[in-house]
Amino acid sequence: MNEEINKKFHIAVFYYTQTGQLLDIIKSVLSFPDKSGCKVTYKEIVPERAFAFPWSKESFYEAFPESRAEIPVKIKDMDFSDIEEADLVVLGYQPWFLAPSIPFASFIDQEKTAMYLKGKKVITVVGSRNMWISSHMSIKRRLDKYGCKWCGNIALEDRHNNYISVLTIFRWLIDGQKGSSGFLPAAGVSDSDIANAAVHGEDIYNSLISGDFSTLQKKIIEKGGAEFHPQIYFVESNGNKLWGKWAAFVLEKGGYGDKNRAFRLKLFKYYLLTVIFVASPFGLLFFYLTYPFKRRSYEKIGKNILFLQN
Ligand SMILES: Cc1cc2nc3c(=O)[nH]c(=O)nc-3n(C[C@H](O)[C@H](O)[C@H](O)COP(=O)(O)O)c2cc1C
Repeated sequence: MNEEINKKFHIAVFYYTQTGQLLDIIKSVLSFPDKSGCKVTYKEIVPERAFAFPWSKESFYEAFPESRAEIPVKIKDMDFSDIEEADLVVLGYQPWFLAPSIPFASFIDQEKTAMYLKGKKVITVVGSRNMWISSHMSIKRRLDKYGCKWCGNIALEDRHNNYISVLTIFRWLIDGQKGSSGFLPAAGVSDSDIANAAVHGEDIYNSLISGDFSTLQKKIIEKGGAEFHPQIYFVESNGNKLWGKWAAFVLEKGGYGDKNRAFRLKLFKYYLLTVIFVASPFGLLFFYLTYPFKRRSYEKIGKNILFLQN
């Protein structure tokens, strides 16, 4: 045990972030291990062609089919040589259109990444609006396939009402305005939630020292590091199925940036806004009416997702 305390643990962090929000979350999570003497090496995932921020309306929707269909782009070569022996890997990602963001999906799908992750202990850290479960399942498929030991998942989200956060995230991503305006609050994960994410650091550090990560996820959940909201899951899981069809429909007309798909993307945009603001309130009414009969099944799904099971 003493030997373990004296050991300088090495944590390798892979992340992509446009606004810096995800990096702030990861730094907060790792502040305790960092201060306690762990070596933390940050590895940024950089697409060869940057996704400009803020987005234009067109560039935002242009990213939909490739995000949802998880079609990779070229990313700058990742050097794994200085982190080969890392004791723990942190994978930081954000959902784009209910799938892992294109840069992160491009990174995790690389053979070099798969080889590197094989047998490694992994913690995922997510910074989302509030719909991260479909992307979580998608990441899970990879981590299982690569033979990782998935030890924890911290998923932070915007706690405002779903409709409010749709409005504020558009204002943030497209107009570049994160702060509050008029009756709308600030967008994204709140500063206090980012600061509070530091509470998970000591549990991570203790797991490194004891070599026992078996109770880490339970502690993360107890401290609010990941939550399952059945009503959001209902909207997300239904949306995700249809979006797969929409992505295929647009991709029939061409790849990223192809003008031939502009019309279908416009159709998707109007469909999306109609679903969010017109159809989903009826969907939610259906959800609440049927919830008493489906509660057990939602509880089971929620438990499996939160505890990283099948
Ligand atoms: C193209 C795009 C699509 C997004 N789709 C989702 C989504 O499906 N679910 C969600 O919770 N957040 C979504 N977001 C919000 C991001 O997950 C993330 O919280 C935000 O972009 C800030 O991340 P950053 O760390 O890259 O700055 C989306 C953002 C972008 C840019």
